[in-house]
Amino acid sequence: MGYDLIVLGGGPGGYLAAERAGHAGLKCAVIEKKALGGTCLNEGCIPTKSFLYCAKAYEYALHSKDYGFSCDNIKFDHKSVVARKNKIVKTLVSGVGATMKANKVDVIKATGVIKGKKDNEFLIEADGKEYTSKYLIIATGSECAMPPIPGVKEAFAKGVVVTNREILDMEDVPKELVVIGGGVIGLEMAAYFNSIGSHVTVVEMLDHIAGPTDREISKILQDIYTKKGIDFKLGCKVTQVDLDGVNYEADGKSFKVKAEKVLMSVGRTPNTANIGLETLNIEMDRRAIKTDEKCRTNIPNCFAIGDTNAKIMLAHTAYREAEVAVNTILGKNDVVRYNSIPSVIYTNPEIGAIGETEESAKAKGIDFKVAKLPLIYAGRFVAEGGDQTCICKLIVDKKKNTIIGCHVISAYASEFIISMVPIIENEMRVDRIKEYVFPHPTVSEILREVIWTI
Ligand code: NAI
Repeated sequence: MGYDLIVLGGGPGGYLAAERAGHAGLKCAVIEKKALGGTCLNEGCIPTKSFLYCAKAYEYALHSKDYGFSCDNIKFDHKSVVARKNKIVKTLVSGVGATMKANKVDVIKATGVIKGKKDNEFLIEADGKEYTSKYLIIATGSECAMPPIPGVKEAFAKGVVVTNREILDMEDVPKELVVIGGGVIGLEMAAYFNSIGSHVTVVEMLDHIAGPTDREISKILQDIYTKKGIDFKLGCKVTQVDLDGVNYEADGKSFKVKAEKVLMSVGRTPNTANIGLETLNIEMDRRAIKTDEKCRTNIPNCFAIGDTNAKIMLAHTAYREAEVAVNTILGKNDVVRYNSIPSVIYTNPEIGAIGETEESAKAKGIDFKVAKLPLIYAGRFVAEGGDQTCICKLIVDKKKNTIIGCHVISAYASEFIISMVPIIENEMRVDRIKEYVFPHPTVSEILREVIWTI
């Protein structure tokens, strides 16, 4: 069967590419071996957000007196939360299927393998059948990285070590959860299980949590969750995982922390093995496919989007890359502007971030200043009882008088960090931004307050 475009992988990058291509009139197929929606919908963004929403509601109930009412006999039912999550995932996955149909995209439920080129078209094999296409988009996503730490394999086989996948289907709440890796996945799951009563320890090899997050902001998050009961073991090297706990070293000394379950969250590896990339001689950077700002690989008409290029492993980056790849196929001039992609950590409070941090601006030798205020400058934040240590920080390019970074730890940060995207992307001058009217009262008004301190 011949197509204009075959998309390998039906996650956020893949299904959006297929949707946009189908909408534009291209004859398109998406090949997906599991469920449409990929990691994001089935075992990532959406399930974790449904968990975290339940945990937040539970925390409100536990602190009901702070809000003028009382709740007795509050019990958290994790099994129901898992069932609720499954229902949500099912609804959204079927929604993606309906969108594919509406855009006349063929969905091929099979493992697709590239078999090289035939008559100048890409040849893909799936379920014993051969398909050809003029264009190819590789969107096969990523999987949890499993470091070669002694004992991990065995503990994984016994169900003690879990990844982002298994943790979402655990029916019981572990008494002790040890999280290896204090990045985004680790912190969101640590936050959830801390809220619902597990004793959580985060073992991180760096001296800080939340990876490239602005250091002041990540320290505030760490302090908030330390108060809530999470144990952070920073600057620690995990040496062995046993069936009853995790061994680690710090400052030359050895320690062991007890664990009923261990979450492995030390990063993700692009799914680029065993899909036939070698038949096309695609240029790689270790497991990542090399691409340019149009998501083109070194092979003409072949694109790689989402986690496969490992540029910024976020679903919304994959969305944008999908659009840019399809626009390029359609002959439209489009590029991904990687410097203005926001990111969020969905803890409680949330972290919203975009652009340069103090650390990255310093490292690049940018002449910058910092403007910041506590969130208590936003009336709605105070009205709703937000944590008083929360702050909003802007990084300002001194020469251009433009904002090059925004970092906020606060309720709703995920919802208003978007307002900084056009500001940063268009290099708007601070005096121009000051003219914007923010709705009142909103937590987002903190941005206006900070802008006016510049
Ligand atoms: P990550 O890269 O965010 O964090 C991994 C952490 O593990 C780092 O802090 C690293 O220093 C640490 N680490 C590495 N090896 C270690 C070891 N042997 N012992 C202890 N610590 C070790 O990776 P994570 O959390 O697995 O997330 C994977 C991807 O998924 C990320 O690219 C992330 O952006 C994405 N994601 C995004 C979410 C969001 O946007 N809210 C939610 C969940 C995942």
